[in-house]
Amino acid sequence: MNQKPLTLIVACAANRIIGRAGRLPFDLPEDKQWFHDQTAGTIVVLGRICYETWPRVRQDGRTPVVISANTALASPGVHVVPDVPQALARAQQLSGEIMICGGQRIYEETLPLADRLLLTLVHADVPGDTWFPEWRHLEWRESWSKESADANYRYTFSVLERRR
Ligand SMILES: NC(=O)c1ccc[n+]([C@@H]2O[C@H](COP(=O)([O-])OP(=O)(O)OC[C@H]3O[C@@H](n4cnc5c(N)ncnc54)[C@H](OP(=O)(O)O)[C@@H]3O)[C@@H](O)[C@H]2O)c1
Repeated sequence: MNQKPLTLIVACAANRIIGRAGRLPFDLPEDKQWFHDQTAGTIVVLGRICYETWPRVRQDGRTPVVISANTALASPGVHVVPDVPQALARAQQLSGEIMICGGQRIYEETLPLADRLLLTLVHADVPGDTWFPEWRHLEWRESWSKESADANYRYTFSVLERRR
């Protein structure tokens, strides 16, 4: 059976920080809109904390596959599995594009398998407690990018395709 490609989507600071105290370490409305647009209608694979902090995850046709030992989180339309391999297997069975939405351990385990990276790179070092793994040593082809900025940050949206 042909496997569907895996896409990771992340907003990452220059020092690879992605989270602080369970929240995003920066407030970027344009990136939030980008994230919501890109994940609409897809299968979103995410950790328990990300799931709990995204109450409207099922809006816009998203199908969550939540990684957690707590199977009581399951409800109609919400898949709960205990680890990354089972999350990917479940996501392959469901209909729709697969988007990996973090957090840290999930990105670490799936980056080696990623076919595409939707990266918002924030050009600043920020304090935090959650990291995205180093991705720059892998070979990527940038198929699209856009520079942007707000009052606080400069950032670049990129679509990176993995070279195999
Ligand atoms: N900037 C971004 O693009 C971005 C994206 C995602 C997240 N974040 C930030 O990152 C933080 C949340 O991420 P996080 O890494 O702390 O938490 P998380 O991955 O959302 O949730 C952690 C929990 O998920 C389960 N889990 C995660 N990985 C697992 C694995 N490989 N195997 C088994 N279970 C696993 C466990 O659940 P149980 O304890 O229930 O078993 C674990 O306690 C927040 O600050 C959030 O804002 C930022």
